[in-house]
Amino acid sequence: MCGIFGYVGSGDICKTLYQGLKSLEYRGYDSAGVAVIGNSISFVKDAGTVDQVLSDLKLPARKAGIAHTRWATHGRPNQLNSHPHFDEKKKVAVTHNGIIENYRKLKEELQKRGHVFRSQTDTEVIPHLIDENLHLGEFEAFKKAVSMLKGSYAIAAIIDGSERVYFARRFSPLVLGVNGDYFLASDVVAFLRWTKKAVFIEDGEIGYIDEMGFHIEKDGVKVNRKPTTIQWNFEEAAKDGYDHFMLKEIFEQPKVIKQTLSSERFKGLATHLSTLDKLVVTSAGTSSYAGLAFKYISQLPIDTITASEFPALYRGGEILAISQSGETADTMTAIRYAKSLGAQVDALVNVVGSTLTRIADKTIYTHAGPEIGVAATKTFTSQLAALYALNSYMRGTEIPKIDVKPGLALNKDLKKLAMDISKSKSMFYLGRGQNYVTALEGALKLKEIAYIHAEAYQGGEMKHGPLALIEEGVPVVVINPQDSYRKKMLGNIEEVKSRGAFVIGFGEEGDDEMRALSNVFYGLPKTEVSPITYTVPLQLLAYHTAVVLGRNPDKPRNLAKSVTVE
Ligand code: G6P
Repeated sequence: MCGIFGYVGSGDICKTLYQGLKSLEYRGYDSAGVAVIGNSISFVKDAGTVDQVLSDLKLPARKAGIAHTRWATHGRPNQLNSHPHFDEKKKVAVTHNGIIENYRKLKEELQKRGHVFRSQTDTEVIPHLIDENLHLGEFEAFKKAVSMLKGSYAIAAIIDGSERVYFARRFSPLVLGVNGDYFLASDVVAFLRWTKKAVFIEDGEIGYIDEMGFHIEKDGVKVNRKPTTIQWNFEEAAKDGYDHFMLKEIFEQPKVIKQTLSSERFKGLATHLSTLDKLVVTSAGTSSYAGLAFKYISQLPIDTITASEFPALYRGGEILAISQSGETADTMTAIRYAKSLGAQVDALVNVVGSTLTRIADKTIYTHAGPEIGVAATKTFTSQLAALYALNSYMRGTEIPKIDVKPGLALNKDLKKLAMDISKSKSMFYLGRGQNYVTALEGALKLKEIAYIHAEAYQGGEMKHGPLALIEEGVPVVVINPQDSYRKKMLGNIEEVKSRGAFVIGFGEEGDDEMRALSNVFYGLPKTEVSPITYTVPLQLLAYHTAVVLGRNPDKPRNLAKSVTVE
């Protein structure tokens, strides 16, 4: 979603803003813009990519500037709606992430007082409000304007006449980077190339960066906070010779899963969870499939609630929130609601210092490193690995062996298969038991990045409706290892096959029945963690299909990495 970047320092302002913004591209966006302070405020902004809008950026800048990638919510992606936004005299420039819920009322009032608006955005009220209060002094004007806003926001603003970047946060992520120069960003990936020293801004905090350092306050009281050191490396957030981040991240999985399991950190939480009668897991997107997998593998009674539906379905109980980013608005709203009812919230998160880690009572990390591809890959399998480990500690059994290399070894074969399925209009993914989760994730990956309609079903459910859609040549991916569901799945394969389906079978090496029933068959070794083992080739299949179709798998249309609106 929208990305914010701000910089105060002695480096090349335009180049730094451009590079910072490039690193935020992965969040998903449709417009880009920057504003800098020179003799006055100057800017460039438009719909399009960072490169289309901002390459060869030459603005008369002194020491401070702000930049933004916009993911449209209020108003179409176009030049006027792109950020930064201004007051009429262009004394103030503002970028914003989130939604100002009371913007209509504020806008009407401002218009009555003579302010002229140029965009359809909610953001534009902010520079006008700041401008109206400048007689109070810059920081006071900024604080006054922010105090009038309702909703969610991360804001970065510059005001002509000073060399500061002002910021404020409520329910949208914001973090400072510090190395003598000062950076402000939606996430640490934006400034990793310059510094690993980060200062996380909390909800309700407001402040500024300038040449002297950073200033944070909350409710008028100065906040003293020391920088923390981020363990991620800039190199981890680079493509490293791969064509796409997604492919790199798929191939990182053997290393990442080792990292996830490298300590006994799950033990404490496992001991605690074992004492519960029930656990409620809430999450969104791919993370919600990790939650569902936990329900299948755990003996503890687990309720899974999609985060966006949480208040309608939650009836009490301890929460485990799962989120790669730790920022998904639906998940944050769900756990804030649970906390308001007195629930304890545990979290499984990848991004250190993210919002979820600060709301949760207890956090365990997946330690998967930065994931830049919008579609979750290594963060999903690392969530699954963490949940298998948690489950083993709860049961007092050994953590099962996890080996994703056999799935990776199918890369070339799957690239060939991608050529065939890329012509399909629609596909099905079938699994039973925990591999229903694998089917869901396989279908989601294909939808997200190849834009091919794909549905996942429990093998047994096909005959209750979807079977009507099977006709000659429709590809059906079947995940069927040699577990207790295998026989019934073989029956389900017969059902789709006899209606003309093109069966793409994934099963155990040496499973001759599966091989014979499938039009194409891929064998994998016996495993106790089939959702991990079998998800990997499905990621590759989706990736190659997207590439064959000329889609950019790292930046699927309409989607965002960190979804910070509900
Ligand atoms: C977005 C991403 C998905 C992700 C979902 C949940 O929709 O595109 O890949 O699964 O958010 O994100 P989270 O960070 O909470 O795991």
